[in-house]
Amino acid sequence: MGTTRVAVLGRGLVPAGEPVLRGDDRGVLHGDGLFETLHLRDGRPWLLEPHLARLRSGAAAIDLPLPPDAALVELLDEVRVGWPAQTEGALRLVCTRGPEGGGPPTVYATLGEVPDSARAARRDGVTVATLPLGVAARSRPELGWLPSGVKSTSYALSTAARRWAQRTGVDDVLWVSTDGYVLEGPTANVVWRSGGELCTVPAAETGVLPGVTAHHLLSRAAELGLTPAEHLPTVAGLHEAEAIWLTSSLRGPVEVTSLDGTPRPGSPLTPHLQALLNFPRPPLGRS
Ligand SMILES: Cc1ncc(COP(=O)(O)O)c(C=O)c1O
Repeated sequence: MGTTRVAVLGRGLVPAGEPVLRGDDRGVLHGDGLFETLHLRDGRPWLLEPHLARLRSGAAAIDLPLPPDAALVELLDEVRVGWPAQTEGALRLVCTRGPEGGGPPTVYATLGEVPDSARAARRDGVTVATLPLGVAARSRPELGWLPSGVKSTSYALSTAARRWAQRTGVDDVLWVSTDGYVLEGPTANVVWRSGGELCTVPAAETGVLPGVTAHHLLSRAAELGLTPAEHLPTVAGLHEAEAIWLTSSLRGPVEVTSLDGTPRPGSPLTPHLQALLNFPRPPLGRS
């Protein structure tokens, strides 16, 4: 994805190649910062309020001072002004801890086109393999000191998992706890249909990221005649589900077409889930 625009708090739009962060910014040195990725459609950020709310609760959890929402919204307005309404955008809002030795957080926004791979995944689904995460399902929230469920800029685990997926020849990964439960993907939550329920993994109990997309889908499950539910699935339990999706802001719900090498039938529910998110409809059927 080419990032075509960058805007910095207090500076407005800057040329995309211009420096934005200092070399000693703790966001760079330690991955000490937060971000949100939003889907820009019809020129506007989709589900802006819940994204800002998650950023604010993450900031409270890691003691990161944030500018007021109005300033963040103004920054997002600056970066998106004049963006063609028909072009889907990937809008990022980033807040780092700022320079070593003190100094204000660095706050900026980037906007680029939604990658082709995201659009292809909506149409074709994704192949997924499970990968051990090395933690028990409920261990992280129990620790107390560890801010869990925050969208930290420290994505080393996620990028390592993505590299593993590439080496292994699958599109994506689902992390599994030491006690055998499926948690989430490196950049997505897991949602599945089991009988009359549309389910996801409980964030507060496990420390997975409370996904804006998964929450929105479950909040509208009744429109599909389904009941929203939170469960911790085992891998075997997930294989039993009628359909499985990975959900995230840019891809929306993408169907899991094979899990650990076992192919899964396409679900007629997938276009309906995409419609609940008002996603630009990909051509139906697999390419
Ligand atoms: C670890 C993780 N879980 C879940 C998600 C999905 O969250 P959302 O639907 O808010 O994009 C993401 C998004 O990047 C993520 O990084």
